[in-house]
Amino acid sequence: IDILAPVIALDGPSASGKGTVAARVAAALEFHYLDSGALYRLTALAAVRRGVLFDDVEGLTEVARALDASFVEGVILLDGEEATEAIRSEAIGEGASRVAALAPVRDALLARQRAFQRLPGLVADGRDMGSVVFPQAQLKVFLTATAEVRAERRHKQLIAKGEDVTIQKILEDIQQRDARDSARTVAPLVQLPDARLLDTSAMTIDQAVRTVLGWWETVQSSR
Ligand code: DC
Repeated sequence: IDILAPVIALDGPSASGKGTVAARVAAALEFHYLDSGALYRLTALAAVRRGVLFDDVEGLTEVARALDASFVEGVILLDGEEATEAIRSEAIGEGASRVAALAPVRDALLARQRAFQRLPGLVADGRDMGSVVFPQAQLKVFLTATAEVRAERRHKQLIAKGEDVTIQKILEDIQQRDARDSARTVAPLVQLPDARLLDTSAMTIDQAVRTVLGWWETVQSSR
C-alpha cells in the first residue's frame, strides 16, 4: 500500500511555462505545489542581502541550510518579508542558476523539498524533480518549448512589467542558462527515459494543463 502521497514531477528549462502549468494542475487536483526553483532563487536573494558572494561555496551552503522561507497561498516569504516579486528579476535568476550548480547547496535544500510530499498529493516543478528529489514520482513530465518561443513569452511578460529588453538579449540569456543547467555535473536538466515529453511551443496553457491532467488520469486508472 501507498503510505506516501503521490507526486507529479514536472521538469523543464526556464521560461517553458512549467511553473504556470504546475500550479494550475495542482489547483485542479487540490494537490500541494512545490516551486523548487523558488528555493534556489531565495538562496541567491538571501546571499545578496547578506553580502555572500556567488563564488563562496561554504557561505552559500550555510545560507541555503539556514534559509528562512515560507510559501503561503502563492505568496513567498524570506525572513518573514514578502519576496514573491523580488526573486523573479533577471539578476536573481542568474544568481539562482549559479548557486544551483553547487552540490552542497542542492544537498542543503533536499529535505526541505521532500517535506512538500504530503497528502493528498504533490505537483513539483524544477529541473531534477523526477531524477533526484522524487525519483519514485507516479508521473514524470518533461515540459519544454523551443528557445525562440520561450524568449517571446518572457519578452511579453517583461514588456508588460514595463522593462525595456530586446528579444535577442532574452534569447541569449535563455540559451546561456539552458547550457549551464544542462551541462552541470550535479543534477543536470535531462529528459528521463520514464518522463513524458510535453512540447508546448504551439500550445496554450490550457491545452498543456489538460494534457497533464489527462496523463494523470491514465496513471491513476492503471494503478
Ligand atoms: O525554474 P526557475 O527559473 O525558477 O529556476 C531558477 C534556477 O534554479 C535555474 O537556473 C535552475 C535552478 N533550478 C535547479 O537547478 N533545480 C531545480 N529543481 C529548480 C531550479
